[in-house]
Amino acid sequence: MLVLLASLSLGTSALALDLTDQEQAGKRLYREGISSSDAQLQARVGASDMTVPASVLPCASCHGNDGRGRAESGVRPPNLDWQRLALGQGVREANGRSYPAYSDSSLARAIQQGVDPAGNRLDPAMPRFELTLADQRNLTAYLKRLAQERDPGVDEGVLRIGTLLPATGPLAEAGQVVRAVLEDGLAQLNQQGGIHGRRLELVVLDPGYQPDSAERALQKLLEQQRVFALVSPLVPMLDQRLATLLAPQNVPLIGSTPRSGGSAQIFDPLPGLPVQLLSLAGHAREALGLAPGDLRVVYAGNEQAGVAEQVRDSLLQQGWAPPAVQAFDGQAVDGQGILFLGRAQAFAELAAALQAAGRQPYLFAASSQVAGGVARLPEQWSQRVFLAYPYVPEDWTEQGLASLAGLQQRQGLDPRQASLQVNTLCALRLLSEALKQIGRDASREQLIAALEGLHDVSTGLTPALGFGPGRRQGMAGAHVVAVALPGPRFTSVSPYRPVPDSP
Ligand code: HEC
Repeated sequence: MLVLLASLSLGTSALALDLTDQEQAGKRLYREGISSSDAQLQARVGASDMTVPASVLPCASCHGNDGRGRAESGVRPPNLDWQRLALGQGVREANGRSYPAYSDSSLARAIQQGVDPAGNRLDPAMPRFELTLADQRNLTAYLKRLAQERDPGVDEGVLRIGTLLPATGPLAEAGQVVRAVLEDGLAQLNQQGGIHGRRLELVVLDPGYQPDSAERALQKLLEQQRVFALVSPLVPMLDQRLATLLAPQNVPLIGSTPRSGGSAQIFDPLPGLPVQLLSLAGHAREALGLAPGDLRVVYAGNEQAGVAEQVRDSLLQQGWAPPAVQAFDGQAVDGQGILFLGRAQAFAELAAALQAAGRQPYLFAASSQVAGGVARLPEQWSQRVFLAYPYVPEDWTEQGLASLAGLQQRQGLDPRQASLQVNTLCALRLLSEALKQIGRDASREQLIAALEGLHDVSTGLTPALGFGPGRRQGMAGAHVVAVALPGPRFTSVSPYRPVPDSP
């Protein structure tokens, strides 16, 4: 019993950093420039001593939430690790200054007057803050803890990654596939020593079917399991809320874009539906010769309405003149070319309704939504149906194929479910690439910045992937594939290339 208790308490102390009230107040000052009293704090900036509210220039804006400094322009804000500043003997160096260890009082002088312990003037890029005694105490107390304040999920020897995969219901099978791919991938990384000396640990929770249960599972993943980041969750029931739930703690997610749109924290290795449909529109214009007024956007199912509007807006921006989006409800819609959003069943119904009315426009849709239904289309639709595919077998290199086959063999996975396997592999690949780049002092902020900086990552299974500032989808276009019937036989007719100004 005693042993058990001891190990339990050890466990929690390693997980959470409990700050005293004083340290909490110091943290607010550090991150937001806010005093524990009602007073507004001021700072003097630059060589001219201009006064600005400290809330405009909190310490964290230059030294970073983790205190490690950001080398953005000119003089680098030094690392504020207390170990470096104050503990131990010897001379410190920063930006060409040498000085002995800081004490509480020389630290206050640096922050308030801009001189270091040796009396050197700090570069005027470091503001001089006007602090009360209490504020200075709070701040000093927090600076002493700052270095220990890591984001959740980053321990000495372990980095925890989480995901939500339904264990029962319609998504259970997909959940098992994703789980197998993730476990396999992490096991491989761990065999090679993990990343920066940490073993990667996967925490999988079951989100259930309902938005409520999924939200509770997410909360548990973040607060009790304290995972650092999320990878490839299957939670369509959280579509509306996911971005809002991840934002406050800046939790990175690498997987898929919720239908309600992405956010700064959410990275999708593959192109979203709008981008895929825009690739089809490009083909409609260039290869099929459709005129600006010929295309229209048709969707089936309320949950597709938002994306349909997005697609139409992007079409407008690209010089198309589509009429208002239309909800499909069994009617034969007009138009030379129809960009369709919805499920395979509704797609087949649309084709049947059009055929009954004697119409045969071009039909365009994302393979991920309708591919399952095209085999049943009548022969008349041969070469009239075009599907967007993020990747096609021609993208697969020998090495990519070998690693996919190895995975399938080790985990007993069905090669017919390759696309889910490839999606998950890509997410894991991008995550591990970014984790390697940020080094051992991992923070969520740094992970997001590293993901954003990834480009030309080759997976051997897809076109090269990458993100960018404001760009959260790893591919900015899709292959266009024509469907020949009966069969169906699929032929790639337009290779992947980025859609200009894609969303
Ligand atoms: C506008 C950017 C900026 C802000 C805001 C800022 N600093 Fe700095 N800080 C710097 C720069 C740049 C230096 C390096 C100056 C030099 O080396 O001459 C520095 C230096 C320091 C040093 C000296 C470190 C050493 O090794 O000598 C300390 C301590 C420090 N800052 C603490 C703080 C604290 C605490 C706050 C908030 C109350 C803060 N800084 C806010 C940019 C900033």
